[in-house]
Amino acid sequence: MLPDADAVSRAAADLIGSAVRAGATTLGVATGSSPLGTYAELGRRVAAGGLSLAGCDAYLLDEYVGLGADHPQAYRCVIRRELVRRTDLGDGHVHGPHGDADDLDAEARRFEEEVRRARIGVQVLGIGSNGHLGFNEPGSPLDSLTRVVELTERTRADNARFFDRPEDVPRRVLTQGLGTILRAERLVLLALGERKADALAAALTGPVNPDCPASVLQCHPDVHVLADPGAARGLL
Ligand code: F6R
Repeated sequence: MLPDADAVSRAAADLIGSAVRAGATTLGVATGSSPLGTYAELGRRVAAGGLSLAGCDAYLLDEYVGLGADHPQAYRCVIRRELVRRTDLGDGHVHGPHGDADDLDAEARRFEEEVRRARIGVQVLGIGSNGHLGFNEPGSPLDSLTRVVELTERTRADNARFFDRPEDVPRRVLTQGLGTILRAERLVLLALGERKADALAAALTGPVNPDCPASVLQCHPDVHVLADPGAARGLL
């Protein structure tokens, strides 16, 4: 547990920075609000000259179906805005599933293969208030691969804050599967706020099963969970 969100962001940037300095060139990037402080901190470190992401490629964890790549809430756009613009990561080095593809199943297979070949060095993750990881909602097979997923109403409600109207939140996403995520060499999970406390406690201390997708973290050999006091409440 860390004292606050800023400390979580600094610790995450330390873990990412050390992986990059040790030779990692492939970053897995989550969106949502949890990693925003981490991306800002990476920006400050790059600006200060202590870190460079110039040789890195970033791979999106997930993407909304139906939003064009230029929609401000499309995750490709979010990563451009929050990470690429703040650092020296090249704009052409952001990879993700295309949520506006005609054949979404084929697009899922294409991206799964791209991630497999890339071998993610360090994967940044958030956790849903219902225990989702990526957008693997409860019930997702623990060995699932990249695919189209229907969001639960709870996740759509949680994400409504990013859209003008709740009904604008897309119903479907393309997401890396739990099996895809587990192949990354290092996982860094960020959990902020009391809203995440029950899910985090279930993920780390409950059984490993699809009811709490984030419980698969227990199966990974190099996972770092960075939580503020609110999110860690159920672990104390
Ligand atoms: C986003 C993602 C999701 C979020 C989770 C938490 O790319 O994969 O799993 O990490 O929904 O979202 P926030 O951080 O907004 O609470």
